[in-house]
Order: sequence, then structure tokens, then C-alpha cells
Amino acid sequence: MDMNWHPIGDISDIPLLGARCVKTPFMKIAVFRTGEHEAYAIENRCPHKAGPLSEGIVHGTSVTCPLHNWVISVETGKALGADEGDVRTIPLKNESGQLFLALESVMLEAAE
Ligand code: FES
Repeated sequence: MDMNWHPIGDISDIPLLGARCVKTPFMKIAVFRTGEHEAYAIENRCPHKAGPLSEGIVHGTSVTCPLHNWVISVETGKALGADEGDVRTIPLKNESGQLFLALESVMLEAAE
């Protein structure tokens, strides 16, 4: 399927080792910036009790949930360590720091 990419701004708009939250009609998406200046997008909803992952601290390619410290991979959306659960990942394209999200995939999944 061809992706329709929606621009969401520059990676420099995101705090280093932090995130910004992108609101869509279907879900809130947390877009993270790692220490390597890579960006990843996952649903802004912790698999434990729906904590706002965008308010967590990024380390490596993981984020620690601000509520009860679960560690979630921003790459795969999976909880790490002894905890189990996962959140949706959203396809993200990084073109020289300009970020784009494939929101159709979110809409299609929401419609399933
Ligand atoms: S809601 Fe994220 S660890 Fe509990």
C-alpha cells in the first residue's frame, strides 16, 4: 500500500531525549527523539494503565513511563523487562530532519 505521509515538523522541535504529542482524531501519538537524533512514533498510551508516554524520559531507544516506570521500546512498542504489553507503532519517515507520519495506517487500524 502506498503511504500518504503527513508532515509533522522538524526533529529539532522535539526536545532531545523527549517527545512531543501529535493529536489525531483516532489517537494521540508520541513522537520521540533519541540521543542519536533518531525519531520514533508510538501511541501515546502506556500498555500498563494508559500513562502519557510522551512525558517519559528517553534512554537508548526506550522510554520510561512517567506513571509507574514501565520501560517501553519506542522502536517496537513492546514493554521490556518483566512487564508484558505493547502499543502501536506508527510509520515515521525522517528526511534530513523533516518528520512525516503515515496516518492512514492509524485510521485503517482504528477501523478494523
Ligand atoms: S501507566 Fe505506564 S507504567 Fe503504569
